[in-house]
Amino acid sequence: MADIKKDNILKKDVEISTLNDQLFHETPNTETEWHGTSSTGKQWTVYCGSSEEVLKKLPDSSIHCIVTSPPYFWLRDYGMNGQIGLEESVKDYVDALSNVMAEAYRVLRKDGVLFLNLGDTYYSGKGKSHGTDRKSGKRRFGLRAVDKSGGLGIGLQRKSIIGIPWRVAIEMSSKGWILRSPIIWHRENCLPESVADRPSRSYENLFMFAKDRKYFFNKQPLIDKKVEEDMWTIASRPKTRSGLDTAPFPDELVARCLEIGCPPEGIVLDPFLGSGTTARVAVTMGYSTVGIDLNPEFCLYSVSNLRKL
Ligand SMILES: C[S@@+](CC[C@H](N)C(=O)[O-])C[C@H]1O[C@@H](n2cnc3c(N)ncnc32)[C@H](O)[C@@H]1O
Repeated sequence: MADIKKDNILKKDVEISTLNDQLFHETPNTETEWHGTSSTGKQWTVYCGSSEEVLKKLPDSSIHCIVTSPPYFWLRDYGMNGQIGLEESVKDYVDALSNVMAEAYRVLRKDGVLFLNLGDTYYSGKGKSHGTDRKSGKRRFGLRAVDKSGGLGIGLQRKSIIGIPWRVAIEMSSKGWILRSPIIWHRENCLPESVADRPSRSYENLFMFAKDRKYFFNKQPLIDKKVEEDMWTIASRPKTRSGLDTAPFPDELVARCLEIGCPPEGIVLDPFLGSGTTARVAVTMGYSTVGIDLNPEFCLYSVSNLRKL
């Protein structure tokens, strides 16, 4: 082998191991940071904190694949200061999310891929306080921004769907992300909404973004499964016994993203880890992983599951 080529490979190996040291360093666990290694030798780190702030500490170009589902606009109150999802305007929500995604862009490798799961929200404009939602103790809203009159400042008529996923995707596209596929996640057997004057919703968006025109992608699993390639029919996750209300996405959704979008031995990130689905599925599939969540209870739950692997 020519020396220059050999030197370059060695340099690359050193660079990768330095990045790994930075992501999975052997510092003692603290109240905001936990590290571990699975029985199969896969490393994991869970950080408790704001995803934008924590991401700022991670090295450039260190992650192969991101799979994440941020809080949807005004759907749940996760009960934490600094949470995303309860902004007063659509613009503030889109800005907050695209700021996190700007940091995600920096930490993603040039050949990396991001899968972003987002659902939409209706604007009711009814103007009345919801008080406590009977459906969930986690939904402790006063008067939600999406119920206030005034069209949310963007002229929305009452009863309009806001178009949140596409507003976020368009903003991200204007900031360097390449939107490669707006995959539809058809939520098989989901509970029908109790609405009589429009079709009940049964899908969410799963946007596949790349950072560069050339990136890792393995189409074979989609061909082998004989499934629709950009419409994935996967059952929603039944309520778990964990008691955590994180709106978790199904293991199969994460697994499919990783099968097609993450190279063997890759490192997987979820900046909105919730109950830890992405990290758990990633380690089970043989990847190392980094997860971030604002809620310490959710982080500890993820850590306890990762320690069993
Ligand atoms: C839809 S849930 C993620 C569910 C996850 N995919 C699962 O399977 O459990 C969104 C998560 O984002 C977290 N979150 C909200 N704002 C955040 C922020 N600014 N930084 C980090 N995490 C945040 C919430 O605590 C919640 O766990």
